[in-house]
Amino acid sequence: MAEEYSHEKVIESYDYLKKIIKENPEVGIICGSGLSGLGEDVENKIIVKYGDIPNFMTSTVQGHKGQLVFGRLGGKKVMCMQGRFHPYEGHEAWKIAVPLRVMKLFGVEFVIITNAAGGLNRSFGVGDFMLIKDHISFPGLGGYNPLWGKNDDKFGPRFPAVTQAYDKNLRKLMYDTAVDLGIKDTMREGIYFNVAGPSYETIAELNLALKLGGDAIGMSTAQEVVAAAHCGLKVCACSLITNYCIIDYESTEAANHEEVLETGRARAAAMQKLVTEFLKRCP
Ligand code: HPA
Repeated sequence: MAEEYSHEKVIESYDYLKKIIKENPEVGIICGSGLSGLGEDVENKIIVKYGDIPNFMTSTVQGHKGQLVFGRLGGKKVMCMQGRFHPYEGHEAWKIAVPLRVMKLFGVEFVIITNAAGGLNRSFGVGDFMLIKDHISFPGLGGYNPLWGKNDDKFGPRFPAVTQAYDKNLRKLMYDTAVDLGIKDTMREGIYFNVAGPSYETIAELNLALKLGGDAIGMSTAQEVVAAAHCGLKVCACSLITNYCIIDYESTEAANHEEVLETGRARAAAMQKLVTEFLKRCP
């Protein structure tokens, strides 16, 4: 059985950061693959490496930096994760909740989560953004849930509802921001289908995900959102469609991480602008 972190353990991480960070962040940000440029835009940066924070994990994925960036973005005080923890790195599910709980201890009000995802919806194009309105998590349904194990009531209830996990008002505000920025045509909304990875999906699996209602497919986010909902953090989550999922047997194309990073690089500036402008409009 997992050695879940108690409230005290998370407080040790928080206390370490609190000695360095004098201004409490209001907004948390988690950067997806190829989208860590958001952290570069933060003004008056204070950077803390994950490896220096007690009880924190380190991220092992190419394209992920592994550090927290504190400072200001769009006029808001933010703490930004450049590099996240994916199930496929071998982390136990509860560990994915730790950074969200640290955010909660800091008094963060909501979290902006970005990710790279494959496009299942046949009308989506590579480079589109998708505001996530809900998710289907096969790992979650199968028991890979960050709340698995002993519950610490100091963070939240044993059986939290997650039907409102993706905040409607924040989603509308981000959509309206996209409209005003003139990128409405690339702004979609849909269901994020979460898989464990790290292998990409078979054609049969992609067809299944599509039939079950998935619009985009990816290997992150769902666990973070469950952890956020549990401790009362609102979430606004947005996918970047980095590749078009191949669902027919005639095609010889295959998903690859380089393509994911390439689309990330091509669309990072647009994502950064969207998030920064969104933050300016947040109350
Ligand atoms: N599948 C799963 N995860 C992904 C994909 C994909 O096609 N693209 C980016 N992350």
